[in-house]
Amino acid sequence: MKRVLVVEDLPQVAEHLKGLLGREQDVQVMGVQTQADAAITQATTERPEVVLVDALLQGKVSGAEVAKRIRAGSPGTRIVMVTVPQKPVTPRPDEGVDAVFVLPGGANEIAQALGGEKKPAGGAGATAVYSPKGGTGKTLITVNLATFLRRSGSSVAVMDGVMQFGGVRHFLNVPPEAKSIVDLPPGGAMKAALPEALWEGPGGVHYLLAPARPEQADLVAASELANAVGLLGGTHEHVVVDTPSRLGEDTLALLDAASAILVIVAYNAPAIENVKAALETFEELGYRKQKPILLVVDQADETGGLSKGALEHTVGVAVAAEIPTDRKLVAESLTKQEPFVVTAPNAPISQAIGALATALVAQRRK
Ligand SMILES: Nc1ncnc2c1ncn2[C@@H]1O[C@H](COP(=O)(O)OP(=O)(O)OP(=O)(O)O)[C@@H](O)[C@H]1O
Ligand SMILES: [Mg+2]
Repeated sequence: MKRVLVVEDLPQVAEHLKGLLGREQDVQVMGVQTQADAAITQATTERPEVVLVDALLQGKVSGAEVAKRIRAGSPGTRIVMVTVPQKPVTPRPDEGVDAVFVLPGGANEIAQALGGEKKPAGGAGATAVYSPKGGTGKTLITVNLATFLRRSGSSVAVMDGVMQFGGVRHFLNVPPEAKSIVDLPPGGAMKAALPEALWEGPGGVHYLLAPARPEQADLVAASELANAVGLLGGTHEHVVVDTPSRLGEDTLALLDAASAILVIVAYNAPAIENVKAALETFEELGYRKQKPILLVVDQADETGGLSKGALEHTVGVAVAAEIPTDRKLVAESLTKQEPFVVTAPNAPISQAIGALATALVAQRRK
């Protein structure tokens, strides 16, 4: 357990930091100090594992000075300077700055600042592919997006997060003996067993499959789904997660574990109304502040008389990508069990998946 002391005089920033820290495993927030002197006293007497210090601390003692004095009084404490993009700070361990956390930051950044395991170079974390309505193209987009991302040489994993009737295996030529998430031990033992349970699909994408049989669905706890997403994120630059439509325990665990969400919609009133309701729920869950949410319109050419502007107005989110309809190619791809981005890379639908990948990568860099 890492005990973390926060030295921050702005209440909103302190709340934000406490929120991020609260979602980290094995972290206990000891408290928030708003005054430099009290912070130095607490840090040197209680010797926390980590102290977060606001670089822009107001008052007679600067953040940099607080860091130096904590370093002198508690040399074993890791000191993280918290700053804003406009005021860059360089890590200087000799001056008491071991790491820098730039606001607002996210789960990956805070984990790295705390000295956790580093994500592989360029590691972007997991993207959940979600739609409140079934049959809107989640699995089709998951498989093709992952295969496209892999083309640039990144390591890519797909997790089929749909425990009952998960569809990923039917989009691909998965042999019956391929392992699935039910073959993994829960908890801390999962990490060592995970590489062996992955099936390598077209293009070298690693798949963690859902159970082959519907009656096996309840064998995997929601917390283990989140565990698997986190582990895949530690070993792959991109993780794409197919999710169930029902906002139940499994789905929420997957969405929580993801650091970006693609919401798939189509131009029909029920899909749009359900997306609107789902986005309102995301707002209540705090997702909209925490992670990019990209709205993707599938079968975007079949507008049914609805306009993109009207859709954006109704749901309150801009469209990030539009995937056209291609019944022939999609049907062929399902029969051959090969992603269309491989068999027909120049088709408009494949290029649209490429544009989605670009939008996703750009959004995550922000
Ligand atoms: N852009 C498209 N062009 C042609 N057909 C499409 C397109 N998108 C989806 N489809 C059709 O819709 C079907 C459903 O897509 P998919 O299985 O990916 O949806 P899903 O959201 O994963 O569904 P479920 O909720 O059942 O898991 C596909 O099998 C395909 O036939
Ligand atoms: Mg599906």
